[in-house]
Amino acid sequence: MSDTPSSSGMISALLQEERRFPPPPALAATANGKADLYERAAKDPLAFWAEMAGGIDWATPFTKVLDWNVPWAKWFVGGTLNASVSCVDRHALGARRNKAALIWEGEPHVAGNLGGETRVLTYGDLYREVNRAAHAIRALGIEKGDRVAIYMPMVPEAAIAMLACARLGAAHTVIFGGFAPEAIRDRVNDSGAKLVITADGGYRRGNVIPLYDNVAKAVEGTPGVTHVLVLRRVGESVRPVTLTPGRDVWWHDALDAAPPTPLEPVMVDAEHPLYILYTSGTTGKPKGMLHTTGGYLVGTMASAKYVFDLKDDDVFWCTADVGWVTGHSYLVYGPLANGATCVMYEGAPDWPDKDRFWQIIAKYRVSILYTAPTAIRSFMRFGTDYPKRHDMSALRLLGTVGEPINPEAWIWYHENIGGGRCPIVDTWWQTETGMILITPLPGVTTTRPGSATFAFPGIDADVVDESGQSVPLGSGGYLVLRRPWPAMARTLWGDDERFQQTYWSRFPGLYFTGDGARRDEDGYIWLLGRVDDVLNVAGHRIGTMEVESALVSHPSVAEAAVIGVAHEIKGQALAAFVTPRFGITPDDALADTLKKHVATTIGAIARPDQIYFTAELPKTRSAKIMRRLLRDIAEGRVLGDTTTLTDPAVVADIRERYDHSEA
Ligand code: WTA
Repeated sequence: MSDTPSSSGMISALLQEERRFPPPPALAATANGKADLYERAAKDPLAFWAEMAGGIDWATPFTKVLDWNVPWAKWFVGGTLNASVSCVDRHALGARRNKAALIWEGEPHVAGNLGGETRVLTYGDLYREVNRAAHAIRALGIEKGDRVAIYMPMVPEAAIAMLACARLGAAHTVIFGGFAPEAIRDRVNDSGAKLVITADGGYRRGNVIPLYDNVAKAVEGTPGVTHVLVLRRVGESVRPVTLTPGRDVWWHDALDAAPPTPLEPVMVDAEHPLYILYTSGTTGKPKGMLHTTGGYLVGTMASAKYVFDLKDDDVFWCTADVGWVTGHSYLVYGPLANGATCVMYEGAPDWPDKDRFWQIIAKYRVSILYTAPTAIRSFMRFGTDYPKRHDMSALRLLGTVGEPINPEAWIWYHENIGGGRCPIVDTWWQTETGMILITPLPGVTTTRPGSATFAFPGIDADVVDESGQSVPLGSGGYLVLRRPWPAMARTLWGDDERFQQTYWSRFPGLYFTGDGARRDEDGYIWLLGRVDDVLNVAGHRIGTMEVESALVSHPSVAEAAVIGVAHEIKGQALAAFVTPRFGITPDDALADTLKKHVATTIGAIARPDQIYFTAELPKTRSAKIMRRLLRDIAEGRVLGDTTTLTDPAVVADIRERYDHSEA
């Protein structure tokens, strides 16, 4: 019981002593040369980034580090390169040829295999496969400047497809495998993708996700798509699929038809698009963040190297799905640019049992684990017996990302997974930032549970008030970035104006993160969550407007407001307040229908936990929905000031039906 988050009396007592975790002696030794990174970077950030750019391969050297005309950045001006060369060729054609690049584990258990099916791709294998895939993709009409959508399970071919697109100079847009057909269609159309790469299915918690079927539905409404390339992952006997002749091609047929010779990488300008990745914002429409080649690769390579202290014999496991930015930067580009060995796991952390992660760590002797606080909180609930069953002595460093980590979870992770010896890097960043920006450096930073600590070298993070002035130490405000950084998103695909408006207008000249933060007396940064209508549910970013649009697209719904409520495991959960259309009687069946409707419109991650029906939504006199009030109601708090409401009776009505406060 002592490891459930609620019975953490002992942990709280420890916290009151303000536990600090200095770097362990062994690591402090590896910090040589790093501590002064901060100093050097602060003194001359551009020289620092130029030095970092030396870590990747350039076909033509850049002539200028940065061209900055707020908010338009051009990094490594004049340089040309190909991302797949730095991530694959230079290792495959050098000393790392036979080193494992990707160690993949499938979800279903295989008898006698200590877990699931295993595939190991050396850098040599990866080189061969990326070249074959690039030939195949080119044969389907894709060339430099085109876009390719990738909707794949967590299999090596997802990374191979990304790198093959990069090799051709085509931008990929990876769509998370949990998204529904409508969400796929919107992203494919917005990006203008000509090709969609998918699979017959993928395993998740014992089920087969019907990826191909979702794509087939989506492409009914995507006039620009000429081909669909389909990987056979689960097989004909598990999930038969019928390809559409002329449009659909099997991955294995297309790759087998490719010539055996390498495909000459297409050298592109440093600012050439590498990928577009859609993320939720404050409007109903997801934003396509555009990342370009040179700066992104420099930023992800340098951060992977220093934040995770990557060494050649490490086994690095980032548990994120390739459908999210964490999968892009720290499962594919960053670690591969470093020539690291990466673990990739297809399925759910609790399948077939709750020790699956620990089994994988033991099996491959994982030395660095990078995962989400939500996962850690679930593991805490499962108890310490599960990790105790496995030998995790190879672990030497732990990381977290995606949401604030509560100190109890931090300490549990430190003690029960890291055996008390592994430093934890709590890394703050965003789809927009492309790379980790606020983080400890292992071996350098003394950590405090729950704080992401300090900005990465070369990054100028600040906490400001409403007027953009820095707040004194010990106070809170908005997290901003004062200087550009190489991996920053360059724009919103097709919408420069919204890019400027969303990120660069609130505080002129500063990048507005949308997050609140506090700096303590010693300058440590503590993230406080979003200050806009973006929610963070189990580490996934969800815009309230997106879910509201999905709800009102149902014929029974007149109006809807979606809010986040505190949730012990997921951090936040979704609650929806719904006004039914005239003549519709709300009941449990309708609530279930609406939850399902959201899941089939956006994806299961956006399904509300709770639906509250109300005759009207509480609004201010200026017709703004009072979300704070809805949160108070959903979380059962005593209601705050309702004097600006147009109709206080509305609140009384909701409260009467749903009030579960103790008052
Ligand atoms: C939140 C994920 C606290 C934050 C890489 C940010 C965090 C949003 C942390 C970006 C952290 C991410 N501590 N909050 N260590 N990391 N966040 O785009 O609100 O999916 O703005 O990128 O997640 O989510 P995104």
